[in-house]
Formats: sequence, structure tokens, C-alpha cells
Amino acid sequence: STEASDRPVRTATADDVAVTLAYARRVVVVPGYGLAVAQAQQTVSELVDVLRGRGVDAVYGIHPVAGRMPGHMNVLLAEANVGYDLLIEADDVNPGMPSTDVVVVVGANDVVNPAARTDPSAPIYGMPIIDAEAAGQVIFLKRSMRPGFAGIENELLFSPKTQLLFGDAKASLSAVLSALKDV
Ligand code: TAP
Repeated sequence: STEASDRPVRTATADDVAVTLAYARRVVVVPGYGLAVAQAQQTVSELVDVLRGRGVDAVYGIHPVAGRMPGHMNVLLAEANVGYDLLIEADDVNPGMPSTDVVVVVGANDVVNPAARTDPSAPIYGMPIIDAEAAGQVIFLKRSMRPGFAGIENELLFSPKTQLLFGDAKASLSAVLSALKDV
């Protein structure tokens, strides 16, 4: 919708993502509104469980306003029986970001947008964010280059450390799960 959206991004296949995740030590999954749209809570939980079963330290990074209502992510993930011990609040997950290999952003956008720190004109300026950009690599699962609720570009989509796996989050997570069986 904006001029900046025509800038090139790096895309990844489900196979690429499976390999990246399988060889990571620590993975933080950051869910957002798109998790609810895709109803992908069960599938993301399966992915985290499979990774943990393979010895990857995979957890969830939960932003207080991810989604569209207070506690939205907690409610969704509780439906999928995700253990509370795996849900790490933004303040607690951020200090570990520099030693996190991969952040997987599942249908989130504003809650990882560095403009909240860097752009005083942004509507989200001053909002605490999950510091995905401090991790080694970032993988976004989203359908398009459309922005989130705030309607603004996210520079992290264009970062050299970012890859995008385009598609509905549930379909993409299923494809990654299936690809993991061959890794
Ligand atoms: P958003 O910034 O709204 O981003 C959601 C992303 O999900 C979009 O970029 C969208 O991209 C993607 N998406 C939508 N459907 C999808 C699907 N089926 N599969 C994969 N991706 C999908 O979400 P967020 O990061 O959770 O941030 C929440 C925003 O809502 C904040 O700005 C917050 O202030 C605001 N808000 C929150 C609340 C509460 S209390 N939580 C209340 C009102 C407003 P595509 O369209 O490209 O797929």
C-alpha cells in the first residue's frame, strides 16, 4: 500500500525454514493477530513441541497487546494446551534476544516494529516491542506485505537478517512441520 512495500525482501520456503529451525539452539516464536485469524494455535504448538523434542530451546515471546484484546495470545495458546512455562513476557524475553538464533514472527507485525523506538512520527512510537531485530535471524509468516493494525511499514521486513515465508500462518506452519520430518 505504500511505496516502500515495493522494496525487495528475502523469501524462504518451508524447507528453508525447517532447516533453519532444526539447527537453531534457541528459537523465540512471537505470535500476533494473524495467529488468531489463521486459527493456527494448535499448529504452532505442535511446531514448538517438535522443536523442543529435537533439543531446540523453543519458547513463545508474548507481547501484552499482541492480537486485538488483552490476553489474546494467552487465550489462544491455552486452547492448544501450551504450558505457561513456555510463555515469556516481552520484558523477560528481550534480554535474551542477542543470544537467540531465530525469531519466528507468526502473524504479528506492530509488536516487533522497530519504529516504536526509532520513529517519533509513528503511531506506535513509545510502545515497548519484542526486540526481534536483536536476534540472529528473523522469519516472518504472513500472507502479504500488508501492514498490521497501526498501518505502518515495518523496517524489520527489509532487514538482511529477515526472511519471509508468505502464506496463511496455519498452512505455513503445517508445511514447516512436514518439512521437519526430512531434516
Ligand atoms: P498486527 O500488527 O495487526 O499484525 C498482524 C499481522 O498478521 C499482519 O501483518 C497480517 O499480515 C498478518 N496476518 C493476518 N492474517 C494472517 C494469516 N491468516 N496468516 C498469517 N498472517 C496473517 O498484529 P500484532 O503484531 O499482534 O499487533 C497488535 C496490534 O493491534 C497493535 O498495533 C496493537 O496496539 C493493536 N491493538 C491491540 C489490542 C489488544 S488489547 N491486544 C486492541 C486493539 C488494538 P498479512 O495481512 O500480510 O497476512
